[in-house]
Amino acid sequence: MADPPIFSFFCTSIVVLSLLRLSSAVDTLSPVQSIREGETLVSPGRKFELGFFSPGSSKNSFLGIWFVASPKTVVWVANRNSPLTDANSTLEISNEGELVLLNRSNSIIWSTNSTKVLGNPVAQLLDSGNLVLRERNNSDSADYSWQSFDHPTDTILVGMTLGWNFRTGLEHYLTSWRSTDNPSPGDYTFRYKINSLPQLEISSNGSVKVYRTGPWNGVEFGALSKEPTNVGVPIFVYNRTDAYFAFGTLEDGITARLTLSPDGFSQGFLQKSGSAKWDMAYEVPYDPCDSYGYCGTNGVCRVNQSPRCLCLQGFMPKSQEEWDTHNYTGGCRRKIPLNCSRGEGFTKLSQVKLPDLVDFQLFKNMSLKECKVECLKSCTCAAYANSDIRGAGCSMWFGNLIDIREINIAGYDQYLFLRLPASELDSIQSLFKKLVTISVASAISGLLIVGTALRIIWKRRMKSQGLPSGTNDIDLPLYDFATVAVATNHFSQTNKLGAGGFGSVYKGTLSTGQEVAVKRLSKYSGQGPDEFMNEVLLIARLQHRNLVGLVGCCIEGEERMLIYEYMPNKSLDYFIFDHDRSSFLAWKRRFDIVLGIARGLLYLHRDSKLQVIHRDLKTSNILLDADLNPKISDFGLARIFRGDDTEEETRRIVGTYGYMSPEYAFDGKFSVKSDIFSFGVLLLEIVSSKRNRGFQHADHHHTLLGHAWLLWSEGKAMELIDESISASFVESQAKRCIQVGLLCVQKFPEDRPTMSSVVFMLANEGATLPLPKEPGFFVERSSGSSDAYLVKEESNTHNLVTVTLPEGR
Ligand SMILES: *[C@@H]1O[C@H](CO)[C@@H](O)[C@H](O)[C@H]1NC(C)=O
Ligand SMILES: *[C@@H]1O[C@H](CO)[C@@H](O)[C@H](O)[C@H]1NC(C)=O
Ligand SMILES: *[C@@H]1O[C@H](CO)[C@@H](O)[C@H](O)[C@H]1NC(C)=O
Ligand SMILES: *[C@@H]1O[C@H](CO)[C@@H](O)[C@H](O)[C@H]1NC(C)=O
Ligand SMILES: *[C@@H]1O[C@H](CO)[C@@H](O)[C@H](O)[C@H]1NC(C)=O
Ligand SMILES: *[C@@H]1O[C@H](CO)[C@@H](O)[C@H](O)[C@H]1NC(C)=O
Ligand SMILES: *[C@@H]1O[C@H](CO)[C@@H](O)[C@H](O)[C@H]1NC(C)=O
Ligand SMILES: *[C@@H]1O[C@H](CO)[C@@H](O)[C@H](O)[C@H]1NC(C)=O
Ligand SMILES: *[C@@H]1O[C@H](CO)[C@@H](O)[C@H](O)[C@H]1NC(C)=O
Repeated sequence: MADPPIFSFFCTSIVVLSLLRLSSAVDTLSPVQSIREGETLVSPGRKFELGFFSPGSSKNSFLGIWFVASPKTVVWVANRNSPLTDANSTLEISNEGELVLLNRSNSIIWSTNSTKVLGNPVAQLLDSGNLVLRERNNSDSADYSWQSFDHPTDTILVGMTLGWNFRTGLEHYLTSWRSTDNPSPGDYTFRYKINSLPQLEISSNGSVKVYRTGPWNGVEFGALSKEPTNVGVPIFVYNRTDAYFAFGTLEDGITARLTLSPDGFSQGFLQKSGSAKWDMAYEVPYDPCDSYGYCGTNGVCRVNQSPRCLCLQGFMPKSQEEWDTHNYTGGCRRKIPLNCSRGEGFTKLSQVKLPDLVDFQLFKNMSLKECKVECLKSCTCAAYANSDIRGAGCSMWFGNLIDIREINIAGYDQYLFLRLPASELDSIQSLFKKLVTISVASAISGLLIVGTALRIIWKRRMKSQGLPSGTNDIDLPLYDFATVAVATNHFSQTNKLGAGGFGSVYKGTLSTGQEVAVKRLSKYSGQGPDEFMNEVLLIARLQHRNLVGLVGCCIEGEERMLIYEYMPNKSLDYFIFDHDRSSFLAWKRRFDIVLGIARGLLYLHRDSKLQVIHRDLKTSNILLDADLNPKISDFGLARIFRGDDTEEETRRIVGTYGYMSPEYAFDGKFSVKSDIFSFGVLLLEIVSSKRNRGFQHADHHHTLLGHAWLLWSEGKAMELIDESISASFVESQAKRCIQVGLLCVQKFPEDRPTMSSVVFMLANEGATLPLPKEPGFFVERSSGSSDAYLVKEESNTHNLVTVTLPEGR
């Protein structure tokens, strides 16, 4: 208001003064205008602001872009190399159509350097945080002559990329600030590096590697997880024209940024709208083993283990003395050098981050077999791996291997084949056993590594904002009996939420105020406290957004209790089988719930290393969180209760009538396919809002499955859909659900699909589905005696029914 605008080159014609003033909420700058200190451009949706700022205690001033929402977080800096040391600088559009930053004496401090000459240029700050220079009359097109997104500083936002555009040869990478008070380029860079295969790397001083992800494996960066979450799936692209990393779309109301901190950490942050703080969603390097080459050449780094470094099989420390003092930088050397003699072969290492691509060759069209043969031909080839986990491709390492670490990512199956002389291979059998022991041990000691960290923390932070830090590892708290008793009001009847085959569940409130559900196990399979604890710790490692989270456990005397997070929205049966509440779950909700359960189950069956078969999947075991996301509960209990070692048959059948597959109910045989059967029943129950068990129909005595099958066969499948959701359902989706449901409940286990094809069929509109065969139990019941082989039944307040059958045969 007070100062008249400073006219620079443009003050040639008669201009109305008010035109030159930048009113506060303007997003566009035209040639006749300028921005001075104190003035800003604000993006149309008031998300980002561009102007001058002085970070922290700095006296220098910079032109930058920051979030309008507090806290003021700068995401881009124009003149990071040339700070403004005094006041009265301006930002203008020059005669050449470039954005220029001028100091008091009108010297150009910073300028855009666009490739295209514009006729009538304007600069605009977009809601994405992108500052663009474009033709005035061309506001819709993304045809910018310059954009700040092409010149990232230390932050990437949704819409930005980290990596390469091979057509223009342009690379986007991050350079840290020198310090929090100084945005000039610091020591660290975060880049998408390509050396035959791409990987993300943090380096200091341009060349010293500090951290790297594993190499690109055709699907993702190795040892870096990529799991669909509502928060946003990271995008990895690697093809002939583009190679980059970016954020996926985010849930509404969530803002994300990825920043390279001044001390060299790549950190992902999320902010919920309305919140005045950023939550860190992940950070790398995360632990000492992330430090590049921590264990030297040919060493393997293991978190929370002592010693932290081991030499690879067949190798020994170069200097035992240094190694003994925990100085691992010298690394390891082969006990017996390779010399292409007969009998040399390979040992397969799993759950490791592949070595850095130093002395490395990629053969894209070689199979793993050819890869092995080729590697043996070269006396210096030290290891090979599939370069593309989808099957093809051969990666070969020569000489020393560096930056290998143990990882612990469920389902991660890119293996490293390490070359060894014959004498070493003889002892492989025992080595394999040792490795297995090691990985179990590290799981128990609460190991948490990058990939898992990304996956788990990302979710956890979003799930429970405000968790105290330090709850990210899997050190499962052990509660004593008295604490749990107090929390549950001494297991009072009013606190009881339900009961089932595995025990009773009570609502409790811990002294911290956290609400929990306490499962007091009725009997356990004779496990001692240590065995039980080990089992529970394994279960605690199963972490997925569609599984109920374990908060802790309690072991005292004969008592065995599991403490879970409390789910405020009860269980699925509470809604779908209730006439009034049923309509509350409209079609989209139900479909999301189906997908969620399917993903959770897929994780249990395939992705988790434990390969858990649930054995008691039913609507009452699907809990709903505050946002009605489905969470499978009681997973892993089957492990605790398995009794003996034979996984295929069990003497004590735990399950629920109505959900049990024929082979399980009659022969006690269970497999992932019996879970699939239960899932199919669930699916049909969810679309029909009817229980399989106790289903009644005027025309026949079939179960819900039989009913669905009859309708399907008559081409009237849509009649199965619950009327209360008839207004909202999407026919194509509903039809797929029914068809998949029927595929899952087919009589013979081998006919039923696996969980991964179930997820695929449900999630893909275009998937072609096989035709289902007759379901199991497709026999008409005689009315009134439907429960003929039911022997013992426990019921409870929720009217959940779990049966325990006598020995299976
Ligand atoms: C900035 O410009 C205003 C008006 O043009 C002037 O009053 C003020 O002294 C200048 N400040 C400096 C530090 O030159
Ligand atoms: C403006 O920048 C030029 C070039 O960097 C410099 O020589 C000059 O001293 C600066 N003017 C002021 C007032 O700082
Ligand atoms: C502008 O870009 C050209 C090539 O694109 C380069 O030669 C020139 O040095 C750049 N100028 C500035 C000021 O960055
Ligand atoms: C926009 O204006 C430029 C010159 O200022 C002209 O060359 C171009 O054709 C115009 N484009 C559109 C879409 O009107
Ligand atoms: C980068 O190099 C400078 C000197 O060249 C040195 O002072 C600094 O410590 C180095 N930084 C790192 C992280 O290595
Ligand atoms: C590479 O991927 C990008 C992003 O998905 C896409 O836009 C581009 O067309 C792809 N290029 C090729 C050659 O497939
Ligand atoms: C560790 O060993 C290396 C040689 O391998 C040596 O240069 C370095 O000084 C040692 N570091 C420490 C802390 O002793
Ligand atoms: C290769 O190494 C093996 C084991 O060390 C040794 O027995 C053999 O003699 C060596 N062969 C040659 C050709 O050096
Ligand atoms: C790999 O592909 C190239 C050309 O695409 C071909 O010439 C070569 O024979 C192939 N190599 C193998 C091992 O298949």
